[in-house]
Amino acid sequence: MPRSARPLRVVVTGAAGQLGGFLLPALVLAGYVPIGFGARPGPGIDRVVDIADPAAAGPALRAVAPDAVIHAAAFTDVDGCERDPAKADAVNARGSRHVAEAACAVGAYVLSIGTDFVFSGDGGAPYAEDASPSPVSVYGATKLAGERAVLAVDPAFAVARTAWLFGGPGKHFPRTVVDVLRRRGGVEVVTDEVGNPTFAGDLATALVHLLDRRGGGIFHLTNAGAASRFDLARAVAGGAGFDPDLVRPTTSAAFLAKHPLPARRPADSRLVNGRAAAIGIAPRSWQEAVAEYAPRLAAGHEAQRSAVVAAGRP
Ligand SMILES: NC(=O)c1ccc[n+]([C@@H]2O[C@H](COP(=O)([O-])OP(=O)(O)OC[C@H]3O[C@@H](n4cnc5c(N)ncnc54)[C@H](OP(=O)(O)O)[C@@H]3O)[C@@H](O)[C@H]2O)c1
Repeated sequence: MPRSARPLRVVVTGAAGQLGGFLLPALVLAGYVPIGFGARPGPGIDRVVDIADPAAAGPALRAVAPDAVIHAAAFTDVDGCERDPAKADAVNARGSRHVAEAACAVGAYVLSIGTDFVFSGDGGAPYAEDASPSPVSVYGATKLAGERAVLAVDPAFAVARTAWLFGGPGKHFPRTVVDVLRRRGGVEVVTDEVGNPTFAGDLATALVHLLDRRGGGIFHLTNAGAASRFDLARAVAGGAGFDPDLVRPTTSAAFLAKHPLPARRPADSRLVNGRAAAIGIAPRSWQEAVAEYAPRLAAGHEAQRSAVVAAGRP
């Protein structure tokens, strides 16, 4: 909990995103006053700020005078970054620097969100915070440049690298699994891509704890435990009321032969949450998170489907 007499004000960039949607209520619950920044107007957005615009973040942060900034805005479409590296650099690398410099100028602490995609996944996992990054995609390279830029502005700022986020109303892997199972009655999922599935709600809570402690430097922050995409899909299927055997194993090579993608993904990007654990921040296992979330995901789908049917649309 914040200890100041006055509630601390925390800007969230990317407030309309998957993580942002969980951060705003998590901050309120912990006694902070969140202020949502987003690329466009919408629910939860107090100010429209394009972080790629070098002239935007400074005046916006001066006007709001926050105590801290949780920087969750990013160009997160991994294949989109490969197709448009200039935009990826402008948002993920230079945009992060703009946010950090503007925050530093008003004396605000920055907690910036990083990614497991800074690692190649070619044999170094599980990765500790001080492992050498070597990204294999434009997304990973520009996110790495962004985290370095933030820590170059002030080494007391923090970067929390996370992975395989799910939860919320947008597109994410468990939702895709349920959608495909509903449409086709089965799904093929790769067994040779391994990481740390992380419920965005659990990450938001853990980030607020990290904010409380004002940690500096790099932290790894995911749900506990690792999984292949196949393991995760089976757990989601079971939790959503499907027979897990409807999820069939395949390999990345076989999948990519059918569905080529521009960006390479790390094969094994498992992270070790060492520094967070050392200060008592230890999110629950991904299995517990999926067991709680998958039935809600399935129920939400049913509610949406019945609303569509009730409205007389196909
Ligand atoms: N999703 C994952 O699996 C994952 C894994 C590891 C790390 N991360 C990191 O976690 C953080 C949050 O990810 P997320 O899943 O919440 O992503 P998200 O749903 O794509 O949200 C990102 C937000 O950033 C906004 N944004 C993009 N460009 C912007 C710009 N130029 N100016 C201002 N806002 C801009 C987006 O707005 P628009 O949608 O309107 O463009 C969006 O609301 C990111 O730093 C991401 O790199 C995510």
